[in-house]
Amino acid sequence: MKILVTGGAGYIGSHTCVELLNDGHEVVVIDNFVNSSPESISRVERITGKKVTLYEGDIRDERILSRIFEEHTIDFVIHFAGLKAVGESCEKPIEYYNNNLYGTLVLVETMRKHGCKKIVFSSSATVYGTPESLPLSEESKVGGTTNPYGTSKYFQEIMLKDIYASDREWTVVLLRYFNPVGAHESGMIGEDPKGIPNNLAPFIAKVAIGELKEIGVFGDDYPTPDGTGVRDYIHVVDLAKGHVAAIDKIKESGVFVYNLGTGIGYSVLDVIHAFEKACGKKLPYAVKPRRAGDIAACYADASKAKRELGWKAELGIDEMCSSLWNWQTKNPNGYRKA
Ligand code: NAD
Ligand code: UFG
Repeated sequence: MKILVTGGAGYIGSHTCVELLNDGHEVVVIDNFVNSSPESISRVERITGKKVTLYEGDIRDERILSRIFEEHTIDFVIHFAGLKAVGESCEKPIEYYNNNLYGTLVLVETMRKHGCKKIVFSSSATVYGTPESLPLSEESKVGGTTNPYGTSKYFQEIMLKDIYASDREWTVVLLRYFNPVGAHESGMIGEDPKGIPNNLAPFIAKVAIGELKEIGVFGDDYPTPDGTGVRDYIHVVDLAKGHVAAIDKIKESGVFVYNLGTGIGYSVLDVIHAFEKACGKKLPYAVKPRRAGDIAACYADASKAKRELGWKAELGIDEMCSSLWNWQTKNPNGYRKA
């Protein structure tokens, strides 16, 4: 199939491009590089030995999107493009809603115009808000999001469901990611956060390489086994494969919702210790106050994706940490030249 990947130069997008190409699909990418670099696409091509057709542009620009649909017969769109920093979204809600909601609207309008009605959307476990019970299944209550980023994901899910309700020819696949970490085994592509990372795993990697002094553990008084926050970390390569499973498996129209997680929760201290094993040294950390908006624990019931898509996460916390360390040491400046 020919797949349009929006935001394909980003962290999850680039890993998904590799898996799509390895699975025999053709890949067209649109990215405005607001949070990425064209270098990641060159590296995807080097890893796979295959070409990606790359358009530099914004998904809110209907002209460039239309040009893509005129120049290619797109079978499926995988929609990653968006802004994703929780803290920043509280400071810049207008920019977040504009990029994420308006961007998705322009995309689906252009898709409809060109008769392409199949979309996989990057949703997030954040749509579940504060869990009423764990593990989270696709039937768990959604909403109650606490920041504009999360709310934009929740709204986009609703928009896409409404589109299907009005036109039963659409195929809408909502993939709710838990916490993606790690990098491709080649160490050639990975997560390249700008500035000081907000997320735990890239922060630990920066401490391990000596760029940051110590890890701040945000709270050790949660009702969890060791008091620190528990999350369902998933290897980004497994996550990428989940997208391939979805487009290969889902042939009919409808709305399909899947959690992509491992089903296992690890605490902040578990992740620090797994990373110490991967990098072979002790890592300094200090307990800090809880971070506003954080929940105690979040992990998936990932059985629906296994049952219906034949997909399950294969890689564990040790592979997540060792692949992240491999990427970090090979690319201390990310995609930027030293
Ligand atoms: P990322 O920032 O690395 O990738 C997003 C890509 O989209 C970037 O390459 C960026 O340049 C591009 N982009 C942003 N706005 C654009 C626009 N208007 N037009 C064209 N390109 C645009 O982020 P990621 O971690 O790869 O996340 C991909 C998707 O998955 C996002 O939608 C994100 O919200 C979602 N998601 C991520 C996580 C996570 O923890 N990484 C968790 C759940 C969901
Ligand atoms: N944490 C620390 N120190 C840090 C960073 C994080 O202790 O420096 C803790 C947090 O308090 C939390 C855990 O590590 O307990 C994970 O935090 P992350 O910031 O890595 O991830 P979150 O679970 O907060 O959020 C991430 C993405 C969201 C997404 C969500 C669910 O940032 O966009 O996963 O998919 F919605």
